[in-house]
Amino acid sequence: MAERSAPVGVMDSGVGGLSVLAEIQRLLPNETLLYVADCGHIPYGEKSPDYIRERCRHIAGFFHEQGAKAMVLACNTATVAAVADLRELYPGWPLVGMEPAVKPAAAATRSGVVGVLATTGTLQSAKFAALLDRFANDVQVITQPCPGLVELIETGDLTSPALRQLLQGYVQPLLAAGCDTLILGCTHYPFLRPLLAGMVPDHVAVIDTGAAVARQLRRLLGANDLLAEGPAGAARFWTSADPETLRRILPVLWHKSDDVQSFAL
Ligand code: DGL
Repeated sequence: MAERSAPVGVMDSGVGGLSVLAEIQRLLPNETLLYVADCGHIPYGEKSPDYIRERCRHIAGFFHEQGAKAMVLACNTATVAAVADLRELYPGWPLVGMEPAVKPAAAATRSGVVGVLATTGTLQSAKFAALLDRFANDVQVITQPCPGLVELIETGDLTSPALRQLLQGYVQPLLAAGCDTLILGCTHYPFLRPLLAGMVPDHVAVIDTGAAVARQLRRLLGANDLLAEGPAGAARFWTSADPETLRRILPVLWHKSDDVQSFAL
């Protein structure tokens, strides 16, 4: 039986999950957080489900060794590929995955047209098709895969002309089709909110699921009597690529530059 003071493991293919980590730390400041950025294997969005499942197994095993009391897949692409597999491997271990916010978007849209920005892997998955079947029968959903965005976000330069141009090319057709609700279906994309603010009219709602994931983690930990009690928890970071790169980017995408270690492949 895990202790309340045990850490929570959070993973993504790269730095995108930091957008979720921030929500978790805001809602659960007493939790100690372990973050693995699988930057050596990015982008997951263009990899096969089998490949991603293997990576997730590897990282879940690492969190287990570290005594993590729960795991968060802070990655939509990893969730569609691996969450069922991990649940089978570790029955009873609190595990939170994530999915594009189709349900809230379908409830919120007034124009009846919703746009989804996500990776190719997420949009092509059976899990995403099932999500649409379940919640989006009465609205038109336009999906937009966004190859290349993740790699540019990983550089930490969130205002580069190349990033602006690529994003504009993905968003413009959705706006032209009448979308009034835009789903950020990849955890890297919340870092594009400042850029998006200059591209998207005020009446268009831009939504992501980071805060909902944090709430789900709190529910699961609470139900298992595993919520940490003070003092404030710290975050520790691992990457499967060069630690120096993550060290350089952390102050931009995370609120401070914590220590980064190498995650053996
Ligand atoms: N951040 C991941 C997601 O939420 C995907 C990034 C990638 O393609 O590696 O889908």
